[in-house]
Amino acid sequence: MTLTYRCNNLEDTEKVARLFAETIEQTGAFVCLHGDIGAGKTAFTKFVCKYLDVKQKVTSPSFVILNEYKSGKIPVYHFDLYRLESEGVATISDELEEYSEGKILTMVEWAEFSPDTELPFDRLIVNITYLTDTEREMTFDAVGEKSKKILEKMAENNENINL
Ligand SMILES: Nc1ncnc2c1ncn2[C@@H]1O[C@H](COP(=O)(O)OP(=O)(O)O)[C@@H](O)[C@H]1O
Ligand SMILES: [Mg+2]
Repeated sequence: MTLTYRCNNLEDTEKVARLFAETIEQTGAFVCLHGDIGAGKTAFTKFVCKYLDVKQKVTSPSFVILNEYKSGKIPVYHFDLYRLESEGVATISDELEEYSEGKILTMVEWAEFSPDTELPFDRLIVNITYLTDTEREMTFDAVGEKSKKILEKMAENNENINL
């Protein structure tokens, strides 16, 4: 199953983030965020953190690689692998797998730098396509049973956001 959302503005992206946060707050999730620079990977993560009640200010991890937020409903680990490039990511791929287990949310920007382009565990793949200054298309795909269930649960509540 692929879920597709057409976001006309930042408010629509926030609605998708809220639906996502409400869907995964009991289970956690591992999310690979794909999309060009400026697509909105960090913006989406900020909104998801907002609806998980993260109290700290959420900032882009592009310089520090990983930001951790433990003040919300579940721990959030926000990676940006861009600076590591493929070679660097190869050195942490086992570690990344550990972040796919348990009731935590892991958001990974530039997961496509992972050596096999595919990380070999249960995960969601969120693609954000830049259409215009304010418009984006978001697609959600799942690899593995846990992530498939998350998509099914999101789909059940799609009428709440109507995008
Ligand atoms: N509908 C939208 N969804 C997401 N971001 C949007 C949208 N409209 C405008 N933006 C803006 O686009 C920019 C996305 O930047 P950012 O989230 O840092 O991208 P990335 O992390 O993918 O490089 C932000 O300034 C955000 O406010
Ligand atoms: Mg970013």
